[in-house]
Amino acid sequence: MLTVAVLISGTGSNLRALLDAAADPDFPARVVVVGADREADGLAHAEDFGIPSFTVPYAHYPTREEWGEELAAQLDVWRPDLVVLSGLMRLLPVDVVDAWTPRIVNTHPAYLPEFPGAHGVRDALAAGVAQTGASVIIVDNGVDTGPILAQERVPVLPGDDEHSLHERIKPVERRLLIDVVRRIATGELDLAAASAAP
Ligand code: GAR
Repeated sequence: MLTVAVLISGTGSNLRALLDAAADPDFPARVVVVGADREADGLAHAEDFGIPSFTVPYAHYPTREEWGEELAAQLDVWRPDLVVLSGLMRLLPVDVVDAWTPRIVNTHPAYLPEFPGAHGVRDALAAGVAQTGASVIIVDNGVDTGPILAQERVPVLPGDDEHSLHERIKPVERRLLIDVVRRIATGELDLAAASAAP
């Protein structure tokens, strides 16, 4: 059984979907802890499922590195097989990424390498593209530059605003994330091989 820690900043709707999937006894992974960089609304989902959670408030630390040290210490308590960034809106310090990659994945609301960064949906709309997408990647020390594990196109429709487009992308992200976690857990997807691929 693959053990998973999920890190969030926001509403945690993708976390919720993963928790729902993992509640199926046939699903080969379990979420063992949920962490956040602030008092995120999504922590309530962990509580609903009786899963422990922790918060390492970014604002309480003088530097990203010190925040990262505490985050890493929390993860070390749980020693998950995999860390999932599911809407964590912070760049992790190099030491944390180096300690976890390739066993750390991120969901992103765009078809990477298009529109990386914190505003993937807004940037796609601003660019006027006809389609954007969703991606799940291995986290490396760039901004959304890691190896792509899964991605799918999502159309931009006339009249879309950031909210409507993001709400169309999220169900695709959820499906991709759940499938990636399942494939990692079954061994179908080998993260070390995926991260070594050119
Ligand atoms: C998701 O769309 C996720 O891809 C995005 O934040 C949203 C979180 O939604 N992450 C990024 O943009 C990271 N660059 P949720 O809190 O409802 O799951």
